[in-house]
Amino acid sequence: MVDAPDSKSGEGNFVRVRVSPALPQINKKMKNLTSVFSLFSTGITIVTNGTNKKKFFGCTVNSFSSLSLNPPQFLFCLGNENLNLKTFKLNSPLNVNFLAKSQLKLSNKFAGSLENRWKDTKYNISRNKVPYFPESLGLIEAKVEKKIKSGDHTIIICLITNFMKLNIKKPLIYFKSKYHSI
Ligand SMILES: Cc1cc2nc3c(=O)[nH]c(=O)nc-3n(C[C@H](O)[C@H](O)[C@H](O)COP(=O)(O)O)c2cc1C
Repeated sequence: MVDAPDSKSGEGNFVRVRVSPALPQINKKMKNLTSVFSLFSTGITIVTNGTNKKKFFGCTVNSFSSLSLNPPQFLFCLGNENLNLKTFKLNSPLNVNFLAKSQLKLSNKFAGSLENRWKDTKYNISRNKVPYFPESLGLIEAKVEKKIKSGDHTIIICLITNFMKLNIKKPLIYFKSKYHSI
């Protein structure tokens, strides 16, 4: 038995729940692993999809990786709990915005509450009818090719349909769970 937060009674109140005796150890290991993962610095992207204004989606993602040149592919990973994972349907169009240092607030906005993400956000629409952020360093237009569930995340493999450089600026970088730039 361990103490765990009770979401119904609010923060700071605790209820007793039964968990596997191995779990506290796994959690400590996971925390240590996360802190080692955080030593790998990455760029930051916002992945957008939806072609209808009422159903636009965007999410801050640093798990982006280029995958193949022939055919031109990349991948990113979304947590299986991500509310919009199901909107990435096979063959559906999406955009990847490579963020500049000046887009730090946008990065936080698109990692925050769903309702506020598009409120007062400046965007354009690209050829595939999906929104993108014109202040970004670069844009990749693509469509979903494959989804592979692995552990608590899903790998989304995409086929690139168009790409462009947008601005020459300093990049936004993520290292040790904090924003940096070069
Ligand atoms: C710098 C940064 C990088 C992130 N990268 C990812 C990522 O690669 N995959 C992911 O699922 N969530 C990532 N997140 C968390 C999401 O942006 C988002 O907050 C979370 O998935 C909740 O989204 P939802 O409300 O759409 O479910 C990242 C957040 C930050 C701040």
